[in-house]
This record gives sequence, structure tokens and C-alpha cells, in this order.
Amino acid sequence: MAGFAPAALGAAPPFDPRRWSSVRAQFSLDPRLTNFATFLLAPHPRQVRDAIARHARALDRDAKRYLDRQEDRNRADQRVRNAAARYLGANADEIALTDSTTMGLGLLYGGLRLEEDDEVITTTHDFYSTHESLRLRALRTGAHVRKVRLYQNARATSVDELVSAVRRAVTPKTRVVALTWVHSSTGVKLPIRAIADVLPTRVLLCVDGVHGFGVEATTPRQLGCDFLASGCHKWLFGPRGTGIIWGRAEAWDAVTPTIPTFDGRAFRPWMEGRAPDLPRSAAMTPGGFHTFEHRWALAEAFEFRRRIGRVRTATRTHQLAQRLKNGLAEIKHVRLVTPQSPALSAGIVCFEVEGQEPFDLVERLYVRHRIVASVTPYATRYVRLGPSILNTPAEVDRVVRAVASSRR
Ligand SMILES: Cc1ncc(COP(=O)(O)O)c(C=O)c1O
Repeated sequence: MAGFAPAALGAAPPFDPRRWSSVRAQFSLDPRLTNFATFLLAPHPRQVRDAIARHARALDRDAKRYLDRQEDRNRADQRVRNAAARYLGANADEIALTDSTTMGLGLLYGGLRLEEDDEVITTTHDFYSTHESLRLRALRTGAHVRKVRLYQNARATSVDELVSAVRRAVTPKTRVVALTWVHSSTGVKLPIRAIADVLPTRVLLCVDGVHGFGVEATTPRQLGCDFLASGCHKWLFGPRGTGIIWGRAEAWDAVTPTIPTFDGRAFRPWMEGRAPDLPRSAAMTPGGFHTFEHRWALAEAFEFRRRIGRVRTATRTHQLAQRLKNGLAEIKHVRLVTPQSPALSAGIVCFEVEGQEPFDLVERLYVRHRIVASVTPYATRYVRLGPSILNTPAEVDRVVRAVASSRR
């Protein structure tokens, strides 16, 4: 853990967003571990831990009055939406608040208005949450869902191959294309902008963005999709149990909410027998009581990340991932799965080692080297490392050495 003293409890050093060591010091990671799986379920930086504790304390003391204060004119949710909008270069009314990527995808794919013959296209590379949301939608409404393969060999794929595969799949009946920005199965990052550019305007492009969100500098609008659903508890290091759906202002009309929102602009009219009057994104923010301390501390997470900067984050993560891929590529018994090009990859790095089961290697890395890695949760399994802004070049070199020695 060279160069990083673990932060003493209650005495974290002042935060300097320009220094990666200071960024790392805001987290209470186990200093004995080299953690390449922080993206799985986010550790909270001090700013988020403090905000959660503040809200939890107030709710424990007098939940009724604290809720009244926070919910007055949707004050707390609006604060979160504003912070998200500032970070994403978006409009606050384009953002719905959810609890996870999966909740966002379920609400989106469950709520998109489709006619009887409309078709949804997705791919064989997407995660369970996309496939299952669409399967459930098809069960309920008979919607037609078709899965296409975009590439055979992840490492050798190209922008042209990916864009052409989507373009070929679209038929006159296609109404929705459901993709994942960065595949957690292979680390391939889709050229969403280029794909958006070849789709007819009648087709809605919906994206599971979770492994690009908090890594890439690209804003949702620059990405070119109509909807982007993402958890905030992976690469963004936001509170566990938080997420967003961003939708292009003009696209939101295509979705009908499923879970009643508790937004005052819907709740009050209900009491007064009037129709709700609120942006569709707010109506798509599920109501019911939540772990409010986590939901509200999301504002601090976005502010923390805004101070570090989207561009600096993307540059750092790509540098670490490139260094890792370069190191792994030199090892004879390693086969890299993730493309080398930063245009076609983000932070996820997948690979296999000749003669070794991924689970065995992940276990050996932990037991022998105290390195935390993971295995892709798909039918084809690879070892997966996720260098993030919490890692250092020295840690990357350490994991490369550990993998190189793994056959000895
Ligand atoms: C591509 C992808 N989407 C969604 C998820 C689930 O995210 P969440 O826990 O925010 O629902 C995962 C992994 O956990 C994933 O790899």
C-alpha cells in the first residue's frame, strides 16, 4: 500500500481533489489489500459517510419533523437531482432517482410504450438485469424481444463491426434498442454515439450505463442515447442503494411510470382530486419510504466526483487499465479478452490464464497476494480486474507480477 497511510478514525486529512493519494485517503479501504474490485459495490468516501450519518442521526431523533423539512417542496430530492445534473452536464428534470441499475432498467423496460407488433432488440452480451427486464416485459405484454450478437472475438472487435451489427439487426418493426455501454462480460465499451447516429429516429436507444458511469468523461447527452440507467454505487462510489435514470427531455414521454412517486407535485394533487403536474422524470422516481440517508447523501457523492473532475477521472482510469493490459499482454500464459483501444474499453479488464479456472485464480490471488479480483457473472467466465481512481500504478504492477507468477 505504498504511499498511503490509512486514515485514522475521525481524523481524515483535508481533501485535495488534485491528488490521487488524497482521493484514496477519503475511503476506509482495508490497507492490507490491493483491491481491484471496488467497482462491484462502492466503498463510501468520507464526505458520503458523514452525510449518511448526519441524515441517519436526524431521522433517529425525530423522523417526522426531519422528513417534513426534507420533503418540503421536494427539497432533498431536488438537491440530489441538481448535484447529479451539475456533474453530468444535464438538466435536473432529465433525471429520475432509483435504487440501482436494475431498478432503473426494470422501470424503463417495463414502462416503455410499445404497440402490439413493435420489436425490441438487445444483445447476447448484456447483463442479467437487461435480459430479465425484457423477458418479464415480454411475458406481461407479448412484446417481441430479439437478441443479437455484436462480436465473436471481443479483443479483436472494431467500431465498424459493432455499429454494423446493430444497424443490420434493426427492422421496420424495431422500436427500442437495449444495449450496455461497457460489457461486464468482456470489458468491451460500445461506441454508443456512433450507434445512435445510424439508428432511425423512431428507434429509442436505451443503455445500461453502469460500467461507464463514474469512469468516462462523456455526458449522457454526448453519448447520444435516449435513456441511460445506472447505479451510483459502482464506479461513482455513491451511496449503496442509489441509482439514476437519465432521459433526453423529449424522450421521457415514451415511458409510463410503474411505482407511484411520492413527489409532492403528484401527492398533493392526489389529495385535492387534481391531476399530477410534474416532469415525467420525477414521476418515474419511485415513491414509498427509502433508506433516505443514502438517497440524500448522493448529492455529496456527485459533488465529491465533480471536484475530482470527469476528465481527470477518465484519464486516470484509462491510464491504469492500459498499464494493466500492457503488463498482462506480456505474460505468455495470459489471454486478454478486453480490447486494447481506449475507444473500445473502459476500466474493466477481463482475461484468462491457460490451464486455470477463473475462480481458482481469483482465490489464489487473494490468499497468496491479498489481491481482490472477481469473476465475470456470465455463462463464459473470465477473471476480471477493475482498476479505479482508488488504485495506483504500483498496485497495477503488483497485480501483473502476481498473475505472471500464478503458474509457478
Ligand atoms: C452491466 C451490469 N448492469 C447492471 C448490474 C447490476 O447493477 P445494480 O446492482 O446497480 O442493479 C451489473 C452488475 O452488478 C452489471 O454488470
